[in-house]
Amino acid sequence: MNTRSRFALSAMTAVLFLTGYMACTTDPYLGDNTSDPTDPNNPGGGGGDTTTVTTDPNACPEGTISFQKEVLPLLVSGCAVSGCHNAASHKEGVILETYAQVKSRVKAGNATSSKLYRVLSQGGGDRMPPPPYDAFTAEQKDLIKNWINQGAENTDCNPACNPANFGFAADILPIIKNSCNGCHSGTSPQGSVNLTDYNHIKGYVDNGSLLGAIQRQAGFNPMPPTGGPLSDCRIEQIRKWVDAGAPNN
Ligand code: HEC
Repeated sequence: MNTRSRFALSAMTAVLFLTGYMACTTDPYLGDNTSDPTDPNNPGGGGGDTTTVTTDPNACPEGTISFQKEVLPLLVSGCAVSGCHNAASHKEGVILETYAQVKSRVKAGNATSSKLYRVLSQGGGDRMPPPPYDAFTAEQKDLIKNWINQGAENTDCNPACNPANFGFAADILPIIKNSCNGCHSGTSPQGSVNLTDYNHIKGYVDNGSLLGAIQRQAGFNPMPPTGGPLSDCRIEQIRKWVDAGAPNN
């Protein structure tokens, strides 16, 4: 990546970070006259601010799939793993870490004639991701199919995420499935870290490394290692779940 696109990317990330932050720290259920001094949209506190932002300005329009927040994390986890299609290994010249690299493998608007989608759907030993990694689920394949059929654009809106919801089955496990299990599943998970079910995940909650890794705390390996951190809202959901004792609910 050249310096200019690197700069553009960090500027974009900063904007995303800010909008994501606003979206996730604004409680849509608070009335207009609440004056929370910790509310970034209400810096003065106590002023009866009536301009509180109640919706995420960067929320995905109904039905729109976010390339940056949904598709790329899935591909980075499932395909850009070490030894496969990351910059260091680039098997068969295929790297799947950025929009441009992914875009070059798809036919916008036509999933069934897109190489990227076809390799995910084919059966047998040629399927991607290959064994021992878990195959993409039908839901994950549909996400990619729909994104291609929507025009394969570099969308970076925020998928619906409410930090007030943090149930294990409904909220936490889907995050891990989409952003982590590409590397942390199968018979030889990366770093020997298996994150496929509650009991395994709970072990990394208890030793502090799950939060340490996703919050990029010093002393832990930042996770996911490529493709940027989880959104603030997702990190918030996981943090609240951990704080609540990480129940298997
Ligand atoms: C592209 C592959 C990949 C993805 C995606 C990935 N990891 Fe990892 N993870 C690794 C590797 C490799 C290690 C071993 C440490 C290292 O070499 O960085 C690791 C280590 C870890 C550790 C131990 C960290 C430590 O410092 O002790 C945890 C916990 C972890 N990952 C959680 C996650 C979570 C949660 C996600 C999803 C949000 C995730 N990982 C996504 C590859 C990945």
